[in-house]
Amino acid sequence: MDTSAKMLRDDALKGKTIVVTGGGSGLGKSMTTYFLELGANVVITSRNIEKLEKVKDELESLTGGKVHPVQCDVRHYDQVENMVKESVEAFGSVDVLLNNAAGNFISPTERLSANAFDTIIDIVLKGTKNCTLAFGKHWIDVEEKNKTVLNIVTTYAYTGSAYVVPSACAKAGVLAMTRSLAVEWAKYGMRFNAIAPGPFPTKGAWDRLLPGDLKEKFDLAKKVPLKRVGDHQELANLAAYLVSDFSAYMNGEVVTIDGGEWLKGAGQMNLLEQVPEEMWDMLEQMIRAKKGK
Ligand code: HXC
Ligand code: NAP
Repeated sequence: MDTSAKMLRDDALKGKTIVVTGGGSGLGKSMTTYFLELGANVVITSRNIEKLEKVKDELESLTGGKVHPVQCDVRHYDQVENMVKESVEAFGSVDVLLNNAAGNFISPTERLSANAFDTIIDIVLKGTKNCTLAFGKHWIDVEEKNKTVLNIVTTYAYTGSAYVVPSACAKAGVLAMTRSLAVEWAKYGMRFNAIAPGPFPTKGAWDRLLPGDLKEKFDLAKKVPLKRVGDHQELANLAAYLVSDFSAYMNGEVVTIDGGEWLKGAGQMNLLEQVPEEMWDMLEQMIRAKKGK
């Protein structure tokens, strides 16, 4: 099986302009690359404009597409409003907002300062709110329809998770925003969906979630029923579908792409995977022997 195979037909996103927050690295960069290959114009934003300029040159020569970099810290609404303005000036209009930018690190919650907790909430929840509100208001003002917002959450948005509590709270908030606005703003021609990825190795996430030798100690692939981590192209395929018109009837959905990881953690008896095949005969006999007693 080729997990790096590309799913959509050529030109599937031709004519669309897509804003990708955090588009200069990690999963944001991978999704941006595929959007460009499918014919979209892409605005990439983050705090680091030098990085974005380099990525623009790299991806334009790789794909032949058009990239516009904008420096924007999603925590600040004035910067976000400016980003909306610059994006529209660059390409005439914007069709898709992909809220991908995030901040995170592992820590026992009692070790966090109030500011550390706020920092994650501000990037993830407030940042997503800032971009969504600014683009939503703009699209309502200009009376343009067929707009899409795609939010990247996590599977612990459903379950919560120890040691990443600010991120879990913020991602759960983003999921609630996705479902709420899917209903409220449908009348303006906007739809809202989310992706909940399992482990997809990136430097940004791995350095903060598995620092030092934790990478060797906790092999995340082992937690996945399919026994592997995700390939960036698999996520990019899903994201391209969800921002394309092929998914025009999907609204308010969250799609998990994690090889079954979160369900494995949830099912009470999933630990029986550790029982070797030869023991099952004995266990079956013991259970059958209890019948009627
Ligand atoms: C405790 C910490 C800390 C740590 C920072 N702080 N790191 N506290 N443990 N490891 C505290 C600081 O002391 C400070 O509080 C506050 O947090 C803000 O820190 P700054 O460094 O000033 O913030 P800033 O420069 O804005 O950087 C934000 C950041 C950083 C989140 C801390 O890591 C960052 O830029 N991250 C962006 C990329 C990222 O995180 N990518 C991973 C996404 S992965 P005080 O009180 O001292 O002022 C992801 C995957 C999820 O979301 C699921 C995977 C399976
Ligand atoms: P990453 O490489 O660290 O990307 C995070 C991006 O966000 C960077 O481009 C960063 O750019 C940008 N960013 C951070 N703070 C910002 C701010 N205040 N304003 C604007 N941009 C900011 O991490 P990733 O692994 O690709 O994660 C991408 C998304 O997938 C995130 O939403 C993450 O929660 C989600 N996710 C990832 C995984 C995984 O396994 N990798 C799993 C589940 C969910 P600058 O530093 O230049 O600002």
